[in-house]
Amino acid sequence: MDVLGATTHLDDPLAPYVAVDRSDPRGPCWVLANMVGGLDGSAAIGGRVAALSTEPDAALFLAMRTVADVVLVGAETIRREGYGPLLLPKARAQTRRDQGKPPFPRLAVVSRSLDLDWEGRAFTDPALEQPPFLVTCEAADPERLARARDAAEVIVAGDERVDPGLALHELAARGASVVLTEGGPTLLGELVAGGHLDELLLTLSPLMGGDPLPVAVAPPGAPLTGFTLRHVQQEGNTLFLRYERGEVPPHEQ
Ligand SMILES: NC(=O)c1ccc[n+]([C@@H]2O[C@H](COP(=O)([O-])OP(=O)(O)OC[C@H]3O[C@@H](n4cnc5c(N)ncnc54)[C@H](OP(=O)(O)O)[C@@H]3O)[C@@H](O)[C@H]2O)c1
Repeated sequence: MDVLGATTHLDDPLAPYVAVDRSDPRGPCWVLANMVGGLDGSAAIGGRVAALSTEPDAALFLAMRTVADVVLVGAETIRREGYGPLLLPKARAQTRRDQGKPPFPRLAVVSRSLDLDWEGRAFTDPALEQPPFLVTCEAADPERLARARDAAEVIVAGDERVDPGLALHELAARGASVVLTEGGPTLLGELVAGGHLDELLLTLSPLMGGDPLPVAVAPPGAPLTGFTLRHVQQEGNTLFLRYERGEVPPHEQ
């Protein structure tokens, strides 16, 4: 502990997050988000996360996938960050196998435009044991949808846009108990607004001056959502905060 009472020196940064009981979600599956923000709340620098993420954050970001059945990501983040397959180190993959789970979580991409690189490693890597999910809506272009079906297991959840609640029901029906979203801010904002987020891991990076993009973009008319701080870790100047869904303080209602 340091003077502020935060745990320091992350020997096994994943340990406190593995220990969380995620067996009682509010919805059909437990939904947690893992995001990093600057001190000004910015979610990217030059349209990418890399410069915002410190070394311990990058390590935790990858390790957190160990606890997930599905990693849910918005299409813009896939396009900008160039996602590959969600492979884990051998030991973590083996731990999952020992628990009767597939060695890696499955990627689920949310998109209406279906403007995605179907030849990219996220969809074609030979190490993939199962194809990623592609979560879209009825309004998607039929030709693009046909192409998507070659590369992914398609879930249609919603008419004009993906209905996040419906999408989570469909993922749960396919065996997902824990869904980890890695953003981006638009997708996260929709999950929060719909009351679907159970847990938020927020890394505070010691920087200001990134893009004018907050960690979550609330859709118009979204209600306030309250959170309860459950855990704090610190490594150097980076703070790791773990929140669970809580109540909105009375003076904010
Ligand atoms: N700080 C962090 O932790 C963090 C994490 C992730 C990303 N980022 C950054 O955030 C930026 C991208 O974020 P973003 O908010 O622009 O994008 P995003 O949330 O990753 O993706 C938005 C896209 O997802 C699809 N989508 C989301 N909700 C949908 C719905 N209800 N129905 C249908 N499609 C839906 C749409 O794809 P289509 O356009 O294909 O229809 C939409 O354009 C990048 O700069 C990235 O580096 C930061």
